[in-house]
Amino acid sequence: MLRGLRRCRIAVGTASLLIGGAGGRPSAQCRADQQQFPLAFVTGAGGTLGGSAVRALVEDGYRVVAADLTENHMKSLCDELNSAYGEQCVIPVALDVSNSQQCHQIAAKVKREWGTVSVLVNNAGVLSRAKLEATTPEEWATVMSVNVGGYFYLAREFLGGMKEQGWGRIVMTGSMAAKTGGVTAGTAYSVSKGAVHALTVSIARECAGSGVTVNAIAPAYVRTPMITENHTDSQIQDIVSQIPVGRLCEPEEFGHVVKFLVSPLAGFITGEIIDQNGGMHMD
Ligand SMILES: NC(=O)c1ccc[n+]([C@@H]2O[C@H](COP(=O)([O-])OP(=O)(O)OC[C@H]3O[C@@H](n4cnc5c(N)ncnc54)[C@H](O)[C@@H]3O)[C@@H](O)[C@H]2O)c1
Repeated sequence: MLRGLRRCRIAVGTASLLIGGAGGRPSAQCRADQQQFPLAFVTGAGGTLGGSAVRALVEDGYRVVAADLTENHMKSLCDELNSAYGEQCVIPVALDVSNSQQCHQIAAKVKREWGTVSVLVNNAGVLSRAKLEATTPEEWATVMSVNVGGYFYLAREFLGGMKEQGWGRIVMTGSMAAKTGGVTAGTAYSVSKGAVHALTVSIARECAGSGVTVNAIAPAYVRTPMITENHTDSQIQDIVSQIPVGRLCEPEEFGHVVKFLVSPLAGFITGEIIDQNGGMHMD
C-alpha cells in the first residue's frame, strides 16, 4: 500500500495516524528516479487553473500526468517543469474528458506505465454564458458532458486504486456560479457546476472511511482567459467593483488551495466546497 508515497506518523488527539502524501520541496537532483514520487492526474492542465494546479503539485513532490485536449496545450508548462524538476516529472497526455472510452483507456495506460494515481484534480471545463432560453440542447449537452461527465468518468476510473492503497485525494473545480445561479455565467454552466458540487459530496460520503478525501474549490473570477477573453474591460471593471477584496483572483491562489486540500494534514476535510471568491458570495 501507499506505493511511492512518503509516509509519516502524526499524533491526532490521543491517537496516532499513518498518513501518506508528498509534502516538502524536492530538489531537481533528488527527482532523478521519478518512479518514487506519488502520482497526480490533472485535467484541463493546459489551461490557467490546471497549469497552476500542476505547478503546485510538482513543487510539492508529485509527479503529474497532465491531461488536456492536445499535448500541445501543455508544451510550455511541461518543458519548463521538466527542465526544472527532471524529465518526466510532468507527463502530457491528450484526452477529451467527455469521452468515457478515452478516459478508460488513459486510466489503464496510466496504471500500466506510471502506477496508481493518488491525487486526481478534475478541472477541465468549458464556459457557457447563455441563459436558459438562449441555451440550445447541443450547448447544454456539450457543457454537461465536459463539466460533469468528465469528472464522473475519471473519478470512477481512479477511485478504486486510491481505496486499494488506503489514501487518495480528489479535488474538483466547481464554481461560485453553482451557488449564485451565475452572475455572468449561463444556465448550463451554473447547473453543471452545481452537479460538480453534488458529485463531490456524493463521492466524499461514499469513501470517507477509506482514506480518500473528496473536495471542490468554487472559484470566481480568476485572472484567466476564460474571464479576460469573455468579458470586455468595462465588464471586468464592473465585476471587480462587486468583489469585496477589490481584485480578480490570481491563478497561483487556486494552486495553493489544491496544495492545501491534497496535503496529508487536510485528511479530516472531506465533502467540502471551498469558496474562493474574494467575499463576493459568503455562506
Ligand atoms: N477562470 C475562472 O474565473 C473560473 C471560475 C470558476 C470556475 N472555473 C473553472 O476552472 C476550470 C479551469 O478553467 P480556466 O479558467 O483555467 O479555463 P481555461 O480555459 O484556461 O482552461 C480550461 C482547460 O480545459 C480544457 N478542456 C476543455 N474541454 C476539454 C475536454 N473535453 N477534455 C479535456 N480538456 C478540456 C481546455 O483545453 C483548457 O485548457 C474550469 O472547470 C472552469 O469552469 C474558472
